[in-house]
Amino acid sequence: MDRKVGYAVVGLGVGMRHAEAAAKSNKANLVAVCDLKQEKLDKIKELYPETLTFTNYDEMLKNPDVEAVSIAVPSGMHADFAVKAMNAGKHVLVEKPIDITVEAALKIEKARLKTGMKAGVVHQNRYNPDMTPMHDAVISGRIGKVLFGDFAVKWHRTQEYYDNGGWRGTWEMDGGGSLMNQAVHTVDLMQWMMNSDVESVTSQMAIYNHKIETEDFTASLIKFKSGAVATFISTTCAYPGISTDIRIYGSEGSMEADQDKLKLWKFTDASETEEEEMLKKYAGNGAAAALDPTLCIGHSYVVEDMINAVLEDRDPSIVPMEAIKSVRIVNAVYESAKTGKTVYFD
Ligand SMILES: NC(=O)c1ccc[n+]([C@@H]2O[C@H](COP(=O)([O-])OP(=O)(O)OC[C@H]3O[C@@H](n4cnc5c(N)ncnc54)[C@H](O)[C@@H]3O)[C@@H](O)[C@H]2O)c1
Repeated sequence: MDRKVGYAVVGLGVGMRHAEAAAKSNKANLVAVCDLKQEKLDKIKELYPETLTFTNYDEMLKNPDVEAVSIAVPSGMHADFAVKAMNAGKHVLVEKPIDITVEAALKIEKARLKTGMKAGVVHQNRYNPDMTPMHDAVISGRIGKVLFGDFAVKWHRTQEYYDNGGWRGTWEMDGGGSLMNQAVHTVDLMQWMMNSDVESVTSQMAIYNHKIETEDFTASLIKFKSGAVATFISTTCAYPGISTDIRIYGSEGSMEADQDKLKLWKFTDASETEEEEMLKKYAGNGAAAALDPTLCIGHSYVVEDMINAVLEDRDPSIVPMEAIKSVRIVNAVYESAKTGKTVYFD
């Protein structure tokens, strides 16, 4: 019989999605889960009676059958939980953002190097089918010189969403608001697609429509070392949840998508029918998660990639140093908005 990876999950909010993905994978066994809330553990027992349940993370890590752990606790706890797991000899898949500060995130990289364990980070939007041709058009040079980008995460979240769990919208555990939590996915896509390191960030932020400590709106001008510029808006105030705009313009073409829905595909060398064919092929659903946090898609791909990384003895597709880039940009936005000054990167 083929070998299966012993998989575990800590934190059963979005972590339920990780648990489901591991349970349905034919290359893994969902060995254990951990959460502080008994009702979440009961739900797992109901769905997967063989899975062990824990309220104490340290106890779960002692289980020798656990080889890899998905870390899906509140964002400000990611590094502590990931380092603990790697020190216990477990591979980790960490939810986004990798942690809320670059310093904390670097602890994960340090532990990975020290222990030799594998560490991956969940930025599942890179798996949206339309992202591959868009990224390819940049990397292959087909779009020519990337001139500018326009990114806008116009989502909606209720006050109840923030009140639930108590950690969302706090600097200490969420590390921010609409940008660090919801839009960090699109920050990751931006830095990946613009294909250049950031040179500087100039931003403003506001709390428009929620009782939270951080922000529910940011607007930024981001300059890249390549000379390209991007505008970036994030919000959880756009009722009822509008879109995730990913728009890139180069000297030889223009591409626009709303998350997994390709909306514009124009190239100087395109055939007459290419755009029509591409829009049909990558029709997607648009930004479902703009309206509803439970509609984020793509976790099964990321969990399967982690499982394959263990079996094939390779790195997961998004490693800590890659995920740290978006955390650095997000924190530069906050610093610029707080100080009123442009933040320059090294
Ligand atoms: N990739 C995505 O699309 C996506 C979507 C949602 C959330 N997330 C990320 O996942 C993480 C969790 O977010 P969420 O919305 O699921 O939060 P949540 O509050 O719904 O769930 C977090 C869970 O962690 C548990 N927990 C807290 N402390 C614990 C501890 N010490 N030991 C064990 N369990 C503990 C809580 O009881 C809770 O069930 C965040 O970092 C968030 O940014 C990612």
